[in-house]
Amino acid sequence: TTVRIIGAPMDYGADRRGVDMGPSAIRYAEVADRLSDAGVTAVDDGDLLIPRAEERDPNTDGPIEGTAKFLREVEDVSTRLEERVANALADGEFPLVLGGDHSVAIGSMRGSAREADLGAIWFDAHADLNTPETSPSGNVHGMPLAATLGRGAFGDLSWARAPRVREGSIAYVGLRSIDEHERELVRDSEMTAYTMADIDERGMTAVVEDALDVATDGTDGVHVSLDLDWVDPKTAPGVGTPVRGGVTYREAHAALETVSERHAAEGILRSMDVVEVNPILDEGNETATIAAELTASAFGNRIL
Ligand code: ARG
Ligand code: MN
Ligand code: MN
Ligand code: MN
Repeated sequence: TTVRIIGAPMDYGADRRGVDMGPSAIRYAEVADRLSDAGVTAVDDGDLLIPRAEERDPNTDGPIEGTAKFLREVEDVSTRLEERVANALADGEFPLVLGGDHSVAIGSMRGSAREADLGAIWFDAHADLNTPETSPSGNVHGMPLAATLGRGAFGDLSWARAPRVREGSIAYVGLRSIDEHERELVRDSEMTAYTMADIDERGMTAVVEDALDVATDGTDGVHVSLDLDWVDPKTAPGVGTPVRGGVTYREAHAALETVSERHAAEGILRSMDVVEVNPILDEGNETATIAAELTASAFGNRIL
């Protein structure tokens, strides 16, 4: 396998500046070397050029119902990211998108689902299923799954929706923070939601096996979206929306190792994003280091 690293230093989707430095921090944490140690070749496609948020108008009374800050900018980045991801796949390489806030998943999933029916595993504390109408914050990083599924105001936005991603092929793992209106959206959806309570009860490996069953059933491949706020903030403090009670360091590795084992056996993985690393809020680049380590685990890095 050749992994193509695509940097997407986007922070339009989050309130806290600093997440735009995520790609640098994860590279500094030697993600490429760690991937080589795992036996895969890593090539770096560089960063998308993204204007600073301060130079832009968030345009909160934009073309749609509700609030989605910097939606025009998110559209511009998503369109270019989609192209880069689709190109990597067309060249036979594996797209690894380094965020940036979680709104980068809109472009990466569209790119990945261009030529395939795509399942997804969402390793995250949050559901990211708000629409501009339900979002309490107006931050698009809380909306990427709604965008991908064309829900609410996203239904009219052809750059956002990925028609080959079915709701029933998406599984959450580690959910523990959900907004009032979002709870109903998740409950009424066809998505499978494994919360922290499921991990407590059944253990990480069993939960991820089931999530993989959901994401592979009837699809051509799986997109893994890894939001670092999934990990407990005591272990991974460098994130903009920390939620206590997250997964431990070992659970996190067990999860990505389970993904890599299924991939080794069945070739299921198609694309991945690693998002929400914010070096300004981090301690000694610890969160970026964990991000790099978990990425290597997903590609087969093992103790022995
Ligand atoms: N649910 C909150 C919101 O919609 C927080 C979302 C956090 N998302 C993330 N990718 N960190 O504003
Ligand atoms: Mn911002
Ligand atoms: Mn997220
Ligand atoms: Mn999150």
